Amino acid sequence: MQIVIDRQSKVPLYRQIVDRVRELILSGALPEGFRLPPERRLAEALGINRSTVLTAYRELKGQGLVDSHVGRGTSVRAPAAPAASDGGTTGLPWRQLFCERALRVQEPVVRDLLELTERRDVISLAVGLPAPELLPLELLREIFVRLVEDVGPPMLLHCPTEGHTPLRETLSRWLATRGMRCSPAEVLVLSGSQQGLDLVVRALVDPGDVVVVEEPTYVGMLPVLRGAQARVVGVPVDEDGMRTDLLATVLEHQRPKLIYTLPTFQNPSGAEMALRRRRELLELAARHRVPVLEDDPYSELRYDGSPVPSLKALDRNGQVIYLSTVSKLLFPGLRLGLLVAPRPVVRQLALLKQGSDLHASSVGQLLLDRFLSDGHYEPYLRRLRVAYSQRRDAMDAALEAGKAMGVRWKRPRGGFYYWCRLPDGVERSRLLAAASDVGVAFLPGEACFFEPPEQAYLRLNFSYPSPTQIRDGVGRLLEAVRRSIRVEHRPPAEAVGMPPVV
Ligand SMILES: Cc1ncc(COP(=O)(O)O)c(C=O)c1O
Repeated sequence: MQIVIDRQSKVPLYRQIVDRVRELILSGALPEGFRLPPERRLAEALGINRSTVLTAYRELKGQGLVDSHVGRGTSVRAPAAPAASDGGTTGLPWRQLFCERALRVQEPVVRDLLELTERRDVISLAVGLPAPELLPLELLREIFVRLVEDVGPPMLLHCPTEGHTPLRETLSRWLATRGMRCSPAEVLVLSGSQQGLDLVVRALVDPGDVVVVEEPTYVGMLPVLRGAQARVVGVPVDEDGMRTDLLATVLEHQRPKLIYTLPTFQNPSGAEMALRRRRELLELAARHRVPVLEDDPYSELRYDGSPVPSLKALDRNGQVIYLSTVSKLLFPGLRLGLLVAPRPVVRQLALLKQGSDLHASSVGQLLLDRFLSDGHYEPYLRRLRVAYSQRRDAMDAALEAGKAMGVRWKRPRGGFYYWCRLPDGVERSRLLAAASDVGVAFLPGEACFFEPPEQAYLRLNFSYPSPTQIRDGVGRLLEAVRRSIRVEHRPPAEAVGMPPVV
């Protein structure tokens, strides 16, 4: 199997490997069952990092081209038999018919994880969901019944693409209380904020355009950017948010079409961008005339400290597109998000949205409008903050046992996540297998980077599991970490105070 990589190319190294191996498989040069070289060997042969090969193999697996099993390596998969769901009557080889753009958006890590999360014996610290038992189901039922009585069948008809007008008015009033002055016409109601990411990228980014993202960044933005064939440039995040000194250098050398940032309780790192950095970012973006996409699902969930104004609240040039969601506070299944932008942007995005779903769910919008305008939101939010800050503290206490092994983290002031740096010597593929053995799921840090990082990280969610599950889950996780540290780096179990987990 011959692979030549071009270090000067703008195409990431792992992508070059994926493209070449895919070409060899589809041309028949690599037959079914052919064993790809072990990751370590290929990495050595190409003089690159092993995690780059790992990422490439994962993507090939996600594209359905190879299979991999712990202990048996990675081999070329048989072409899918034409099953009924694959178009069995015509027997078309669907996988091979998917265009390059579609195949770029496979995310095997996340898919594997969600599979693991469905197992009843697994404690999930992986997904970013609110706690189901804290959701105001009874209240929503009452609001729903009242809507049926007051509004009747029209509540189930279509509404404008930009959103139900009274909800846009309510949202614009609510945004003003957060320092964001905007008219209802500048608010676009979305089917979840993920749709906002897709629409903004579709509206602004042509193939080959540069997009600046934080490193690490929200895992769900990466497939959107891959699908758009964007050139992604990462700017590291530290505990004060995006490094604006490094952003300044990027902006001097590149002309990005978009800067994507999560300034408040960043997913995954939990970082909160300092006010000074927010001002610097806006100043840089204004000087270089680059739009900023501010993704803000978590700022309402603050457990310590005082609120810092959003970029949108600080924006004096109309260059920030603000995005938020009800998924982290209320029901993610309602699929409702909101976007705030200057009118021409809202108009263009609404046209694109029309082509994909006409409008967000009318029923959901009516429910949300009543929930907000009947004054339920603030008391509910106060209860959430108390419950989630207790869970955050439970996770902090449980992680203490990992310190002796070299696990490092910073306690987040808000949001849903702990971002942990793992000790040297952790074998990432072994960690996933060990976590599955002990029954715990987490998000591997590399899923949050466009280019795989040298250092191993993981993201842990504390909103969804109960405090007891947090304690058990973190205990299991630390055991998995201990097992996946290469023998020469591994401390004995007693030294890290771990009970055996079976
Ligand atoms: C930063 C960020 N952006 C967007 C989303 C998508 O959320 P929604 O459910 O509103 O589509 C999430 C969900 O995890 C998120 O964390």
